[in-house]
Amino acid sequence: MKKIIIYGVAILAVVFIVMQFFQPEKPVVAVTGDHLFEQVQVSEDIQAMLKTSCLDCHSDQTRYLWYHYIMPVGWMVNNHITEGKADLNLSEWGKMEVLDQMSILDEMCEEVESGHMPLKSYLLIHRDARLSEEQKTLLCEWTKKLSEELLLKMK
Ligand code: HEC
Repeated sequence: MKKIIIYGVAILAVVFIVMQFFQPEKPVVAVTGDHLFEQVQVSEDIQAMLKTSCLDCHSDQTRYLWYHYIMPVGWMVNNHITEGKADLNLSEWGKMEVLDQMSILDEMCEEVESGHMPLKSYLLIHRDARLSEEQKTLLCEWTKKLSEELLLKMK
């Protein structure tokens, strides 16, 4: 019995070590003129809110932390980042059609109000990313206002 446990632990240790060799890519790109904050005037508090709660998964400027280098945690986090960016990359705001920008703004408010975003697993580690009701209201006021401005510009 003792032997089985020792073998078991040894196999797990080897698997764990081998996993570390399969590191996902961690691309971080400098902010370009296409970034949301470069494209439109965004107030300090909204910028701070987006930076703390959204941009790790929805921009090319993810803040990578030590546990991103430890598999399998790194794989799970990487999944969220790539899926999040595929749906919405605020670093590429300038490349989107105005109508898409407007529907994204609408979704941003919806996702936050429904409590779907930021992802729960993210909030477990990033306590400061939790948005208060007041912050959610501020964010939605901002998305609506920007959306209206974009609409006016189209005409
Ligand atoms: C830990 C990573 C992570 C964080 C942080 C995060 N998101 Fe997401 N987001 C995702 C992933 C993954 C998806 C795609 C899958 C899904 O909808 O669950 C997504 C999808 C979205 C979508 C698109 C939904 C759709 O139906 O296409 C919007 C809009 C969005 N997020 C807004 C936000 C906002 C606003 C914040 C900050 C308040 C935020 N997200 C924070 C990972 C994240």
